Amino acid sequence: MFHRHTVRILIAQVVAQSTTVSPQAALEEAERDEREALKQANVTVEKLQKWLEGIQTSASKPDETDEVASKIQSEAESDFRSEYESMVSSFDKKLKELADAEDVHEAAKELKTLSKDIQKESKKMAKEMKKKYYALRTSQKDKAQDLMQEAQKEAHYAMKMARKVEHFGRKAGQKEAEYEGNIGKAEKNTEHLSGVAEKYGEKAERVVEKFFEKVEDKVEDRADAVEHQAEAKQKEREQSIKDALEEAAGKATPAGKKAPAAVFLSSSQEFSPEALLSTVLPATGLATLVLAVAWYRRRPTLSMPPSLG
Ligand SMILES: *[C@@H]1O[C@H](CO)[C@@H](O)[C@H](O)[C@H]1NC(C)=O
Repeated sequence: MFHRHTVRILIAQVVAQSTTVSPQAALEEAERDEREALKQANVTVEKLQKWLEGIQTSASKPDETDEVASKIQSEAESDFRSEYESMVSSFDKKLKELADAEDVHEAAKELKTLSKDIQKESKKMAKEMKKKYYALRTSQKDKAQDLMQEAQKEAHYAMKMARKVEHFGRKAGQKEAEYEGNIGKAEKNTEHLSGVAEKYGEKAERVVEKFFEKVEDKVEDRADAVEHQAEAKQKEREQSIKDALEEAAGKATPAGKKAPAAVFLSSSQEFSPEALLSTVLPATGLATLVLAVAWYRRRPTLSMPPSLG
């Protein structure tokens, strides 16, 4: 906050300035502002032009769309990598420990859930790729629009300053031909800059759109591949759970500690194996497997229906 005294001094200074500035000085200041604004508009238009050329060069390279898609994928992957890897290593660890689990059935169920979560993580990653693609495309389109609008705003401001130049030129005693010639030149300059900015801006937008349509196809393909691979890995993990369960069941000796699968089976002794299989079979492949393993191991007994053991 200004002190009241300071404010009074500031006002006095402004008043003094506005009364003492001669039309000639005001004219020169407006001329400077106009030149500056024109220069700025020119710089911005050239920036837009360079940017357009850059994107045209990129778009003409055959591998560029794939490179952009690949970069999008790497970025998405790095966002998910640590979470994904820790889930996978946790899965591997739990899989190794499965045979020694107190409740093999429960441990296998947990593993299946974790395996599905790992697949979900890949799906999220694939979704993130698409999100990153849209964000990039939008940012590039905005960039073209922003540069175009910036140049046009600067050209507009240059024209405003040109009118000020005309005003103070007249006050400073310029001849009509002189200040009218100036304003005519300013109109030509600013219209040219504004027009060129529009031309480049619109061209850039078309190039960006066309280029990113191709990138979109590549990103979609990559995202599909990620999902397919995740599905294949999920199947592999399910198989490895099955294998581990089989191994766990095979480990137990008939005389020694009961195999975990056998423990699970013995808790269902009141059912005939056929009935149990038919109720569980469609529901979970895992239970089927546990039963099948136990069935196999117990075959000598089970071949004598109907009851177990
Ligand atoms: C910007 O200024 C340079 C130098 O005066 C000129 O050659 C160029 O054509 C100008 N650019 C535009 C877009 O008017």
